[in-house]
Amino acid sequence: MSDADLSEILRSAGDMTVSVHAGNDSSGPSVRTPITMANSYHLPPEPETADWSGTEQLFYTRNTGANQVALQDKLAVLEGGEDAVVLASGVAALHAVFFTFLSTGDHVVVSDVTYEATWKLWSDLMPTKYGIEATFVDVTDPDSVRAAIRPTTKMVVTEAIANPTTKVADIAALAVIAHDAGLLLMVDSTFTPPPLYRPLADGADLVVHSLTKYINGHGDAMGGAVIGAGELIGQIKRQAMVDVGGVISPFNAWLIARGSITLPLRLAQHQATAETLAHMLADDERIAYVTYPGLPDHPQHHLARRQFGGRGFGGMMAFAVDGDPGTQNRFVSHLKVITSAVSLGHDETLIVHVGTDGPRVAAYPEPFRTYGHLRFSVGLEDADDLAADLRQALDATFA
Ligand SMILES: Cc1ncc(COP(=O)(O)O)c(C=O)c1O
Repeated sequence: MSDADLSEILRSAGDMTVSVHAGNDSSGPSVRTPITMANSYHLPPEPETADWSGTEQLFYTRNTGANQVALQDKLAVLEGGEDAVVLASGVAALHAVFFTFLSTGDHVVVSDVTYEATWKLWSDLMPTKYGIEATFVDVTDPDSVRAAIRPTTKMVVTEAIANPTTKVADIAALAVIAHDAGLLLMVDSTFTPPPLYRPLADGADLVVHSLTKYINGHGDAMGGAVIGAGELIGQIKRQAMVDVGGVISPFNAWLIARGSITLPLRLAQHQATAETLAHMLADDERIAYVTYPGLPDHPQHHLARRQFGGRGFGGMMAFAVDGDPGTQNRFVSHLKVITSAVSLGHDETLIVHVGTDGPRVAAYPEPFRTYGHLRFSVGLEDADDLAADLRQALDATFA
């Protein structure tokens, strides 16, 4: 079968078929994409005709590279986009979007709950360094989003499920608001990788992922991606990748492409275990609160069910044990299987205690402000073992 035949099949194939085959370059002797650890490639016989800012021809790894291309092709198919660009980290991908499409004097509307670095970019760095202002809004309130739009607004920025509170944004509704005003909608979908959710199908213009998380899934490489229409991604490649840098290493691109082969299988297990543990924690009186979109009392539970088409609610939740910050720390210190570490979406279950101090926490809703929170990334260990670990740590904490 030719590569063209396979590409055609993959556009409508099942999730696992896509994850195994999309982007795999088997044109050489090996059946899987080899690692090309080179920062430059042979030039054509008349190199002076080359476009040195181009991103199509292989000549320098900051412009393009064999492993970047394989991963980009795969992510475009996985997300249902025309093209993708991969960069060194999720934050590099976020910055690449902002740098490419915004200029001094512009304004953006940003969700009031986002990953820490997105908030830092918009509460400090983008306004002070680039003169681009942001208004933070509750993206679950369409009137607030509309009211925040100014004549200079260029973009709406949100996460599909927000880190860390798990607030769920209605992407189709935000796309209508953004497009009515002529704005781009950027969705950070790190908590909701495909096949759980594909924001482009709901009208998002640009989807960002920290590949470091679920898409790689094994906690051993960093990367970021933006997926969208070819014209928009081409601009990001030329401006933010070629001329600013932040390019991914070929080895990390290869690792992430390899890790992503099992994404649908892993995600199913992350989600099934997360649902079990969320219910278990919610039923335990030593737990102050649990927030997980799969719980019926989550404020956007019904939206999440509809938006994610019954495919699940992700593997991320936040909770706190009933006590002060010292109690949260004691609880974490008693965990034996679950690891206290940042990052998320790994094979290994990870927990992070975030306290009650600091400007970021002040913006979170209750009960996050009173108790702080434990950001909990449910891994691939057996659900029974994780449940037992949580129970024994609670018993030890409250003994
Ligand atoms: C929602 C979200 N976006 C972006 C990032 C940044 O990704 P990276 O750490 O790969 O730069 C993170 C990291 O935790 C995240 O949770």
